[in-house]
Parts: sequence; structure tokens; C-alpha cells
Amino acid sequence: MGILRVGHVDLKVGDLDQALHHYVNIIGLSETSRDAHGRVYLKAWDEWDAYSLVLSPAGGPGLNHIAYKVEHDNDLNVLAEKIGSHGVEVSWNAEGYLHQCGRSIGFDLPSGHRMYLYAEKAFIGKAVGTLNPEPWPDGLLGAGVHWLDHVMLTCPVDENRGINTVVTTTDFLMQVLGFNLAEQVVTDDEGKNQFATWLFRGTKAHDLALGAGGGTGLHHIAFYLEDWNAVLRGADILGKHKVPMDVTPQRHAITRGQTTYFFDPSGNRNEMFAGMGYFAQPDMPTITWLAKDIWRGIFFHDGTPRPDFLENYT
Ligand SMILES: [Fe+2]
Repeated sequence: MGILRVGHVDLKVGDLDQALHHYVNIIGLSETSRDAHGRVYLKAWDEWDAYSLVLSPAGGPGLNHIAYKVEHDNDLNVLAEKIGSHGVEVSWNAEGYLHQCGRSIGFDLPSGHRMYLYAEKAFIGKAVGTLNPEPWPDGLLGAGVHWLDHVMLTCPVDENRGINTVVTTTDFLMQVLGFNLAEQVVTDDEGKNQFATWLFRGTKAHDLALGAGGGTGLHHIAFYLEDWNAVLRGADILGKHKVPMDVTPQRHAITRGQTTYFFDPSGNRNEMFAGMGYFAQPDMPTITWLAKDIWRGIFFHDGTPRPDFLENYT
């Protein structure tokens, strides 16, 4: 099977207490453990593995790494071989190198982002359990997000020097790691010069997205909510806490997401995202957007250009 889903994101944060207040009391995650380096590990109520978010007190904002979970331990052997054959250096890491995870492999994407793959992570279980579960648990804090849904990375593009790591990273993710291309924004008539891409391994519109930028960075991490009403309620909670907003509740035409964007206290962009969009399958035709129409793709209702939305990343 190979890669299942995004397993966790390791974020740099400044003030740890402020970060915890944000991700626990406002987003609704639960702290599950800490390590000797001062990192805090959190999970959402509908997730079963031990954590999906790592807060690293490292003078944030920014991304330390992303990690994706594979289905079988042997997938690591297969993928390490493929990655190495592609000319990318792969490091093997023993059990425990990634907190509470089995052995893992690490490598740099063409965009410069550090990625890890692992097959095993400590199990905690959903807050509602698995025997006659109720639809949601009591005592949820804040928005009560379900799970870490996807990540969008900013990838270096320098047209003058002929560098476009959205293209090279998308190609790597598809050819080597088996991702499928749901949607793309292209700047040329041939549809080859990608400005942004949305890739999936599961059955939803994206598990990982890439966008062009000036350097290697994080555009946002996104948490899943059940529906549009939950996005509105989530934004109400952000308002109550005076969280810096980036985009109030909106519809993306790209991925059909129902969405709102905001920043954590360190400046990392977060998204709360609802709706499965559409049923994504490997044989689904890729959806293409022309760069001139990108704003209608991102902000469907008014299509107002917001260059800062693309230019600001951590
Ligand atoms: Fe997103």
C-alpha cells in the first residue's frame, strides 16, 4: 500500500505556553506526552495514534519536518530503495528516533523539506473508543478538530534561474512515493509549469499540497472539521480568543474546501477545513487551473487577489 496519510508535523514555536494554549484550548488537541528536549506531543480526539502535532520550542515559527505513515514495515524498505535509486540520500533511523515511533527513513524533498516515513507509532485510540462509540466525546475544548488533515509546503521557485521545485517535488512525490495529482495551477498553456499542486494518497482531494515561493517553508497545516457549521463555529472561537485571522470562512474552488485560515502565536499559519470535497481516486482526471484564474480558485466567492496569502509563509 505504501503511504497512508500525514502522520505528524513537527512545528517550531516560540513561547511554548502560548502555543499550548492555542493548540489545546482553541484548536482542541490534547497533550499526550513530552520528551527530554522539551517537545510536546498532541493528538486530536478522532485520531488513534499517539500524536499528530509536535511543538518544538525552537524560536519558531517554521517547520522542522513532516512525517507520513506507511501501511507496512516493508514499505520502508521498498520506498528507501526507490528514493535512493532516484539519487536522493536516505537515512535509516532506529526505533525511537521519532518519538514513540518504530524505525523510520528520512530524506529531503527536492524542495528542501525534511520528510520522514514510518510504519509504527504508539497507539492511544480515539476519544470515543471502538465499542459502541458515541459520535463525539464530551469535554471537547475549542473547535474540537477531528484530525490533522493535510500540509501545504512552500517550495523555492526562481524563474530567472530556471528553478521550479513545485515541478520537481511534485514529480518526486508521484514517481517515487506514489502520490496522485488531484489539482494543479499552471502558468503555461502546455500545463507543465506548475505554480501549485494538490496531491493525495487516500481518497480525499489532498494529503499534501505544494505552492511556489521564494524559499523552503511551511504555508499551513490544516485540521479537519465535520462541516461548514463547524467551520463557522471554529471561526467564532477564534474571534472569542482574538486569534489573528488570515481568511474568514470561505469556499475554496480548488479542492472544494470549506475553510478558514489564521495564525498560531508563533506565526505558523493554520487552517480549519471541512468537507471531503470529492472522491479522489488514482484514475481521476487531474483538475487544472490557469494561473490567471488562481484567485477564483482560492477564494471562490469574490476572487479578490490576496498576494500576501501566497507570499507569507514560515
Ligand atoms: Fe489547506
